[in-house]
Amino acid sequence: MTITVNVNGQKHQVDAEPDTPLLYVLRNDLELNAAKYGCGLGQCGACTVMIDGKAALSCVTPLLVAEGREITTVEGLGTIDNPGPIQRAFIEKQSAQCGYCIAGMMMSAAALLKQNPKPSDDDIRSALRTNLCRCGTHMRIMAAIRRASE
Ligand code: FES
Repeated sequence: MTITVNVNGQKHQVDAEPDTPLLYVLRNDLELNAAKYGCGLGQCGACTVMIDGKAALSCVTPLLVAEGREITTVEGLGTIDNPGPIQRAFIEKQSAQCGYCIAGMMMSAAALLKQNPKPSDDDIRSALRTNLCRCGTHMRIMAAIRRASE
């Protein structure tokens, strides 16, 4: 089945089963590798993207659900040469240790700041409740999101 997805402002036609996880299509078909496969069960947040401006776990989002909606990945927040404000804040605060969770953290942060540009610490904690970091850099991640909200 051919399904059209709109990722980072570009339309792509993908030949895949409608229940294929969006994460697989992003990584394997579109070669957008920022979103990570962690658990594949909707429990770790490594695969977080934005769909229509809201954080979504792409490992448990069937491709058909994503059809026709606006999908944003970290690649859509900025580039290596021209990072966006959230990416700059994560770099400035050295938020990554191993880095595996960071793309998901950034996308949850992006969705939060879109809806709430001046979040409290509780708002940030709540927005990140589905994102796990095994290295324990949560304080630096929170600092980055505070910086990005300034
Ligand atoms: Fe999607 Fe863990 S890989 S929540």
